[in-house]
Amino acid sequence: MSVTVRVPAKVNVQLAVGAPRPDGFHDLANVFLAVGLYDEVTVTPADGLRVTCSGPDAAQVPLDATNLAARAAIALAERHGIAPDVHIHIAKDIPVAGGMAGGSADGAAALLACDALWSTGATRDELLAICAELGSDVPFSLVGGAALGTGRGERLTPIEVGSTFHWVFAVADGGLSTPAVYGEFDRLTADTDVPEPEASPALLDALRTGDATALAAALSNDLQPAALSLRPSLADTLAAGTAAGALAALVSGSGPTTAFLVADEESARKVAEALLTSGTCRNARTAVSPAPGATAV
Ligand code: C5P
Repeated sequence: MSVTVRVPAKVNVQLAVGAPRPDGFHDLANVFLAVGLYDEVTVTPADGLRVTCSGPDAAQVPLDATNLAARAAIALAERHGIAPDVHIHIAKDIPVAGGMAGGSADGAAALLACDALWSTGATRDELLAICAELGSDVPFSLVGGAALGTGRGERLTPIEVGSTFHWVFAVADGGLSTPAVYGEFDRLTADTDVPEPEASPALLDALRTGDATALAAALSNDLQPAALSLRPSLADTLAAGTAAGALAALVSGSGPTTAFLVADEESARKVAEALLTSGTCRNARTAVSPAPGATAV
């Protein structure tokens, strides 16, 4: 018997970052939006814990105990006195190390899949607590849709979204390390007074009313200067998408994937085509939001 769970990528439509906390993390006002690019995680009983991965970027995915899917299986098994003897297969379509929470998505999906395989009877709250231990973005991968994440991003409040939004994502060559980007944020803001992060009322309003033009005006990412500082060529990608008619462009999370909000499906195709021919990115993908969270298929 196997269980397969499909799980979405995310884009941060607002990422407000506070000063570093004593534990090294940063308090956030993190507005997550799940987008329709998916990984599929399948778990099958096995003699021991094993992780495999398929897809165009599979070679970049670690298959050892640092993989969040493996860590999720171990965390759930420990809590329920079960041996984590499971083969986890990740069919990867979310850009790797790209700021789209692909690793977090696999963690949430593996947790849900193992929970079903082992019939642990864990409550939703218990699963969310394990997600929060695994990483700041993992709880959102479980719930999907749209949510405001506070604390280090793990404390979620659902957000209403009034319409479908269309996106193009430009996939960069190579990844960016999330801790390195936060470190660069600290360096760039060292001599400034970093304000308490707060969700933008205009942004929440744009999501609620489904107004793409208003959302475009309200998009923001405090990590963008840090990502651009570490990877200056991302400015060319942002400019190429904007020139092709995107309503707005920003770095997705800690990058280096860049996100382009567009008016409709036709504009998405046009912007993706222009990005591909611009030579400023490795690939361009179109997707719609919001998307449902981790779901058994
Ligand atoms: O929570 P997660 O393991 O995904 O975080 C990865 C790294 O990103 C952390 O080790 C930390 O350097 C940085 N981070 C942060 N503040 C947050 C979330 C992540 O500094 N709120």
